[in-house]
Amino acid sequence: KFPRRVKIVEVGARDGLQNEPGDVVATSIKLELIRRLEQAGLSYIEAASFVSPKWVPQMGDAAEVIGGIEPKPGVTYAALTPNLKGLEGALEAGVKEVAIFGAASESFSQKNINCSVAESLNRFEAVMERAKAADVRVRGYVSTVMGCPYEGEIAPQKVAEVADIMYQMGCYEISLGDTIGVGTPLKAKRMLEAVSGKIPMPQLAAHFHDTYGQALPNLLAVLEEGLAVVDSSVAGLGGCPYAKGASGNVATEDVVYMLHGMEIETGIDLPKLISAGNYIMDQLGRETRSKVARALG
Ligand code: HMG
Ligand code: MG
Repeated sequence: KFPRRVKIVEVGARDGLQNEPGDVVATSIKLELIRRLEQAGLSYIEAASFVSPKWVPQMGDAAEVIGGIEPKPGVTYAALTPNLKGLEGALEAGVKEVAIFGAASESFSQKNINCSVAESLNRFEAVMERAKAADVRVRGYVSTVMGCPYEGEIAPQKVAEVADIMYQMGCYEISLGDTIGVGTPLKAKRMLEAVSGKIPMPQLAAHFHDTYGQALPNLLAVLEEGLAVVDSSVAGLGGCPYAKGASGNVATEDVVYMLHGMEIETGIDLPKLISAGNYIMDQLGRETRSKVARALG
């Protein structure tokens, strides 16, 4: 039942760095990281967020990052755009693909984007319309799919409902975010079952944080159901500033190691990926969170 090939969406330069404590990471370092990720064979790189720099200072150079990329054929560079203002900034910077980000939890929506779920969906409609006119593809995130830092349990039906609205709106893919990494494998399967009852499996992605060490088992569980797009972050960087305790995304190195071990193709060169991870961790002055990078690096 496992897919033969999995697409990796590398979110290290965005999710990975948005929550970085301390100094704002220099634009030149972000661009070098992106270059190294491309060289490792990543074909989808989420590079920046056009959000309020007061809310997320680490993403304040989104226009410089997007503008500084020398696009490589076959690679998609994307940015988050929560509202029309974000989309306008992204279009001006020359972005070709964006992502809108909603949530299955009312309180997380308020904390993260300062509006209710219903209001966020209204804003996304406007983003969608403008993006369509500019011929820019839109990916959709649903956060807190297996639990919310403020509300606890989230019903799979609620996830399916928000995901379906965003899909009907025109998102070509819906990424299911376990924002605080609380899910476990059977829960992941049940959540996916509810969502895939409304949206075809090829249009779904898993975006699992590893806070509780459950991300790889959860991924295995959803891959077994045929899901074939995985979001991950080099060196296991990441976390959401509006989800207390949300630590890193699952490490891309660990996902790639597992997939290759299962003879599932990714198109990624693991040694080069590890070296990209080592580059960014050297710059940040911290140890990698990837177990595979530690074992092989
Ligand atoms: P707001 O304060 O409600 O917006 O913020 P507003 O429309 O009332 O405007 C207030 C000020 O923000 C104004 O500036 C606007 O110009 C400015 P002022 O007049 O005060 O100087 N503003 C903007 N500036 C830059 N870019 C924009 C923008 N919009 C308004 N796009 C807003 C609403 C969404 C902007 C704010 O709440 C925000 O920036 N939130 C941060 C959200 C964020 O980046 N979260 C992390 C990413 S999501 C995530 O990590 C989860 C994910 O990984 C999946 C998962 O793990 O589950 C995707
Ligand atoms: Mg995330």
